[in-house]
Amino acid sequence: MPRPESIENRWDILYRDYPEVYEAFMNVPYQPSVFDQVPEMIDLHGKLIVDVGAGTGRSSRAVARTARQVIGIEYEPAMLRQARQAALGDEAARLIYLSGDACAIPLADNSVDIVTGFTLALFPAERYRDFIREGLRVAQDKVVYVGIPPGWYGGDLDPVIDNPYKGKFDVEVDRIFIEEYQFAYQDVFSNQDYGTIENIVSIYGFIFGKKVIEHIRREHITNIRWKYRVYWRK
Ligand SMILES: C[S@@+](CC[C@H](N)C(=O)[O-])C[C@H]1O[C@@H](n2cnc3c(N)ncnc32)[C@H](O)[C@@H]1O
Repeated sequence: MPRPESIENRWDILYRDYPEVYEAFMNVPYQPSVFDQVPEMIDLHGKLIVDVGAGTGRSSRAVARTARQVIGIEYEPAMLRQARQAALGDEAARLIYLSGDACAIPLADNSVDIVTGFTLALFPAERYRDFIREGLRVAQDKVVYVGIPPGWYGGDLDPVIDNPYKGKFDVEVDRIFIEEYQFAYQDVFSNQDYGTIENIVSIYGFIFGKKVIEHIRREHITNIRWKYRVYWRK
């Protein structure tokens, strides 16, 4: 089947059919990377960590640079395969992957130090409550979630994107963490330089839609600025 011009924000299709595009999206350098910023905010030294929604393993490998041991949990087989293949060297010795659901973590109560989740995109928003409850059940020490705050879904081009999650969803997720479950939070920024228009169109544009592709071409955009919100709670 020929590749479409864009998957129009269907992340489930991206993870299932185009894990290599997701990987390319993550491979365009983020400066500074949220994976470097989180360990500066949360002490991961010597900890046993469960990283749910591990994807292709980027967040799990990043956490494994500091933690004692990391269990990455992912439910999409294509992503899990890539994660297992990518685990190399010292990190690999501290990393294992399990197939499982972030909202029904296959581990006992208080069995790890920290539960992390990096940009899970759970739908509907209600499922974040399940993730939080499960995290608080399994973690002795902390639950840490890294998400994208309201209005930043596609980074600084968000206003141009036909964002299916705009308004209600992202505001609701933010409210669940901060008001309902009293998480502390801090925002961090990151820049992504795609180098060329063709590169940004084939990766970022492929994910975020035809409308943004037209905008990128018209305005000659090759950079995206991202805002992340790091939430944590004991
Ligand atoms: C945006 S990716 C992030 C991957 C990784 N955490 C990272 O930062 O590179 C989100 C991942 O979460 C997975 N995911 C979404 N909902 C999940 C759930 N309920 N249980 C397990 N994995 C889930 C998706 O399949 C996808 O691989």
